[in-house]
Amino acid sequence: GIKIATIGGGSSYTPELVEGFIKRYDELPVRELCLVDIEEGQEKLEIVGNLAKRMIEKAGLPIKVHLTLDRRAALEGADFVTTQFRVGQLDARAKDERIPLKHGVLGQETNGPGGLFKGLRTIPVILDIVKDMKELCPDAWLINFTNPAGMVTEAILRYTDHEKVVGLCNVPIGMEMGTAKLLDVDHSRIRIDFAGLNHMVYGLDVYLDGVSVKDRVMELLAVPENSSFVKNIKGLGWEPEFIRALNVLTCPYHQYYYKRGEMVEKELKNFEDGTTRAEVVKQLEAELFELYSDPNLSIKPPQLEERGGAYYSDAAVRLISSIYNDKRDIQAVNTRNNGSIASIPDESAVEVSCVITKEGPKPIVNGDLPVQVRGLVQEIKAFERIAAEAAVTGSYDTALLAMTINPLVASDKVGKAILDEMMEAHKEHLPQF
Ligand code: NAD
Ligand code: G6P
Ligand code: MN
Ligand code: MN
Repeated sequence: GIKIATIGGGSSYTPELVEGFIKRYDELPVRELCLVDIEEGQEKLEIVGNLAKRMIEKAGLPIKVHLTLDRRAALEGADFVTTQFRVGQLDARAKDERIPLKHGVLGQETNGPGGLFKGLRTIPVILDIVKDMKELCPDAWLINFTNPAGMVTEAILRYTDHEKVVGLCNVPIGMEMGTAKLLDVDHSRIRIDFAGLNHMVYGLDVYLDGVSVKDRVMELLAVPENSSFVKNIKGLGWEPEFIRALNVLTCPYHQYYYKRGEMVEKELKNFEDGTTRAEVVKQLEAELFELYSDPNLSIKPPQLEERGGAYYSDAAVRLISSIYNDKRDIQAVNTRNNGSIASIPDESAVEVSCVITKEGPKPIVNGDLPVQVRGLVQEIKAFERIAAEAAVTGSYDTALLAMTINPLVASDKVGKAILDEMMEAHKEHLPQF
């Protein structure tokens, strides 16, 4: 039987994961699921953990669920470690979103200054987890969902010798599901060739039953409702001439770059109304945990679909199963580039379509990205890499460099003002500085 350790077990996404394990039990016989959290998350862990137990009991499966604050005990002998934690909880997210906006810069938790600071808080913790894994479960796979997933994967690849790591995001699977919906076909018939970085991933081509339908899909992306399918980002729609000329499928996060002004303006309005995403999610979470507390509930409630991480269970459990069963199917994940994208260093993390084997993801060779997107991807990669370096070294100058070269900031003076304010606001979670 398989032992899974999930770090950040008190997440409201846990029922999503549990549903995935239940659905795929035949191909992925999980014997033990250890949900790990910290003291601050203990109450959530109890509530969501007890729901997980009820879900498994209802399914009649012999999976043991353990709820614990003892990370090392949970890691001992694990086969797969999944991570879904948030250092500093939603209050830290609110700061990531709100402080940059005061300086006229996008406030978002995985892009721009917010992404930088979420990375600075998260990377020391994940490196510590990897250190424990080396000792307690050296052969286990680390499936990291914790954002910023691309930067976190970059840090693990550069600063540890643990090779069995995969970064995971629900955006690629969401793009396939969304495209299937647009074309009104079953998602199993759609395949997208993904290449880029986390939250900066493009679809180089899209196929229906193996035949390219890219031209049709590009036209459909101009319709506002079609340009985003994640609940945390509103789709504003592309200028049809722009998207036609770009000629690759965008992900919802691209709006922050190609509609910079409009997106900042929209977030400024949310800032004033007290409806930035952290505030919305706090409300959603309160409702979810209220539902989860009901001892008669033993399914994943549909309200969870209001969170941005839809299809997380499909993405995560499909990935774990393909590694475990050496399925050699194609999934887009964050992994070492190894020549998949010519203009990105081999050793860096990229988000690309891969063949998933028992030795891990084997990235499909893409050659180079089209010239119209190549530069932005390189810029974001440089940002992630320098941010990871800052997280590890605790160098203020390196952090300011990461901040300033980020295309959403692009001013050393503004960058420094944001950096100083965020350093102060987050200091309890930044021991390295
Ligand atoms: P959350 O705020 O519910 O946090 C999950 C749990 O992590 C909490 O119970 C918290 O107590 C715990 N935690 C905090 N610090 C910890 C630590 N050091 N060790 C162990 N547990 C710790 O967060 P959420 O909204 O469920 O999101 C969880 C993570 O998943 C976030 O990092 C989020 O950005 C990420 N996420 C990623 C994707 C993706 O596409 N990769 C999608 C959705 C969410
Ligand atoms: C998206 C992303 C995640 C992101 C999340 C936010 O789809 O892929 O990486 O963190 O959803 O969702 P939330 O409900 O927390 O705003
Ligand atoms: Mn085992
Ligand atoms: Mn994501």
